[in-house]
Amino acid sequence: MGAEKKWLFTLFSAAFLSLILLLLFSVSAFSSPKPFPSIVNHGAHQPPAFAYYIWGGRRDRDRIFRLLLAVYHPRNRYLLHLTNDASEEDRHRLSASVKSVPAIRAFGNVDVVGKPDRLTYMGSTNIATTLRAAAILLRLDSGWDWFITLSAMDYPLITQDVCPRKTCLIFWMHDLSLDLSHVFSSIRRDLNFIDHTSDLGWKEFQRVQPIVVDPAIYLARRSQIFHATEKRKTPDAFKVFTGSPWVVLSRPFLEFCILGWDNLPRTLLMYFTNVLLSQEGYFHSVICNSPEFKNTTVNSDLRYMIWDSPPGMEPHFLNTSDFDQMAQSGAAFARQFKNDDPVLNMVDEKILKRGHNRPVPGAWCSGGKSWFMDPCSQWGDVNIMKAGPQAKKFEESITNLLDDWNSQSNQCK
Ligand SMILES: *[C@@H]1O[C@H](CO)[C@@H](O)[C@H](O)[C@H]1NC(C)=O
Ligand SMILES: *[C@@H]1O[C@H](CO)[C@@H](O)[C@H](O)[C@H]1NC(C)=O
Repeated sequence: MGAEKKWLFTLFSAAFLSLILLLLFSVSAFSSPKPFPSIVNHGAHQPPAFAYYIWGGRRDRDRIFRLLLAVYHPRNRYLLHLTNDASEEDRHRLSASVKSVPAIRAFGNVDVVGKPDRLTYMGSTNIATTLRAAAILLRLDSGWDWFITLSAMDYPLITQDVCPRKTCLIFWMHDLSLDLSHVFSSIRRDLNFIDHTSDLGWKEFQRVQPIVVDPAIYLARRSQIFHATEKRKTPDAFKVFTGSPWVVLSRPFLEFCILGWDNLPRTLLMYFTNVLLSQEGYFHSVICNSPEFKNTTVNSDLRYMIWDSPPGMEPHFLNTSDFDQMAQSGAAFARQFKNDDPVLNMVDEKILKRGHNRPVPGAWCSGGKSWFMDPCSQWGDVNIMKAGPQAKKFEESITNLLDDWNSQSNQCK
């Protein structure tokens, strides 16, 4: 009798177990990504694509990953750089996080710099790493149109393309979402968004004339930037321009800087080696001193920042009380933010409609929206961009900038 009971019990539990297994299997079959071909089309008749260079240092691993997800689109290219003060383990863990996202795995469009650079923010190694990133991105991908620099302290204020109604239904009521690709589709792809001026003001004495040497170029240990006691004359062989270090540069201009046979980019690089905060002058001076590119400058960095007066080294940290003004600003990106500041959750929820640890949803995401499934773990045609009525604020600011550009009132002056 006892043996029979035992046998029956085993039979029941075996049946129960297989039922559970069957259920699990069907659920996973149901939610696994649809095998839509991961084909990305680039070219003049396709929507534009962007190459993002995102960098940070020690303790920036998680915020770089969050920023990557907030600007992710399968058509773009991304290079992440944790400078050499971050650990090798951080770099491995960042790569692992990147590979955990199904779309990124399928499209293979995100790379992490494996051999990191030493970087002094005030010194010339800063511009050297940016040029290196641009060189890598030019080499890796022939499809992008604009190069965008972001630091771990930045965050986007617009989506890469518009989130479809199906995916974003919950948030559709208070929709502020804007659309980078859509707005950039209508403008010339040789334009460069670079905030610049030759009116040096206080910077002439404090930034242009001092001679500094960046120790990260030749000393193995971290040390203070070296200031020479002598100052030098303001250049007259070329005109010095300064402006925001945050740029959106066209592919042709970067090819000119990195692959070109004109010597101007190299001469200026040598000059800027000994300038404090070279990233606030290098691209600005190269572009404004080259006749074939100076007409392509649009005088804006497309960023939202709040500066003290007189401005310090860095803008204010933005917080929740800045949200409304920031969202209405018509800028593409904002800086700077503290790690995981609550205002970033507001941007995710109200502007990007982005779930925790998920890429920003766009027209390419074809999965349904639910708490257990990321809509962007399935995708359709990634080359279709949806233009939304909500791209207005950003479009307005771009239209105003292009009016300025047409009148040449604000260009390399
Ligand atoms: C740039 O604009 C100036 C002023 O309108 C014009 O004279 C010049 O030919 C333009 N350069 C190029 C390369 O288009
Ligand atoms: C936000 O920042 C401003 C200026 O830095 C500060 O005055 C304000 O108290 C901050 N607000 C919150 C909610 O932290």
